[in-house]
Amino acid sequence: NSTTPTTTTIDSSGFDKIGCVGLGLMGHGICQVAATSGVHSKIIAFEQEQRFLDSGNDRILKSIDKLVEKGKLTLDDANDAMGRTEFTTDMDALRDVDLVVEAVIENIDLKKDLYTSLGEICKPETIFASNTSSLSIGEMAAFSGRPDRFLGVHFFNPVQLMKVVEVIKTDDTDPIVLEKGLKWVEEIGKVSVLCGDTPGFIVNRILVPMLMQSMSLIDRKDASVKDIDVAMKLGCGHPMGPLHLADYIGLDTCYFIVSGWMEKYPDESDFFIPACLQANIEAGNLGRKTGKGFYHWEGEKRGDPV
Ligand code: 3HC
Repeated sequence: NSTTPTTTTIDSSGFDKIGCVGLGLMGHGICQVAATSGVHSKIIAFEQEQRFLDSGNDRILKSIDKLVEKGKLTLDDANDAMGRTEFTTDMDALRDVDLVVEAVIENIDLKKDLYTSLGEICKPETIFASNTSSLSIGEMAAFSGRPDRFLGVHFFNPVQLMKVVEVIKTDDTDPIVLEKGLKWVEEIGKVSVLCGDTPGFIVNRILVPMLMQSMSLIDRKDASVKDIDVAMKLGCGHPMGPLHLADYIGLDTCYFIVSGWMEKYPDESDFFIPACLQANIEAGNLGRKTGKGFYHWEGEKRGDPV
């Protein structure tokens, strides 16, 4: 069974120096969590372009400030974490890291080029882990030239607060590499769950069709945005209703995930794009990031339904 957890035979991941590739919405959080965990001597934070490197750095600083302000992180630990993190646009700096965690945009051609380059630059022992939410781990592993040292580590947004990480293995992942990945997730203070290389893994396979169903209720005019969200918050104990969450994740991300699945699995009836999602995408209303989606947004603050 591809998802049977292995018995742990190692005491630690042994990841001393790690690289974080991509510092966007997910990547900056992963880099921050790895840095503040205090388990790595060095974190190389890499972006290809200086402006993305700077915005990732800013996001980390803002989040760290918030955690310090709330007493969840000491100033000393925050300074230590930043002191151990090197921000660079030079891919060669990743040459001798023990682990690369990749969180670049979900474009298979871009990932193909990236993993081909990383496969050539990094030492043979470096393990690669992708934070992809919608692409096949096996397909990316093939580009890397090291499919036995490749796995998925799928974090959730906001990475700094969400406790779980899905660890994905393929048929080629070396069992020791998988153990190291699971151990690392623990070391950085998260809880791991194991899943095979299947569309959406565990969480998104359940969550994203639920988001689409909530939008279908809107299309059919069966219920309002507000009532759907109140129903799921109070009826199921979810921290955010599904339409609030879709805005929070980004309607473009939801759209991208489902359209990729539709193309790959055309017979799966769970995978479809509701008309209201399509209309929002066409109007450029992507949720929190554009200030409008199913709700109005002012920065991080959600307003009334549209
Ligand atoms: N760094 C530091 N602090 C942060 C933060 C961050 N990145 N994000 C939020 N905070 C802070 C907030 O600013 C707030 O601080 P305040 O109390 O000073 O205002 C505090 O954390 C708590 O935030 P909230 O007041 O919004 O309180 P909540 O109790 O609602 O918690 C939440 C926020 C954890 C986001 C909660 O609403 C939640 O769990 N929502 C569901 C999130 C979810 O389902 N995520 C998964 C999305 S799917 C995904 O990521 C997969 C991908 O592949 C699509």
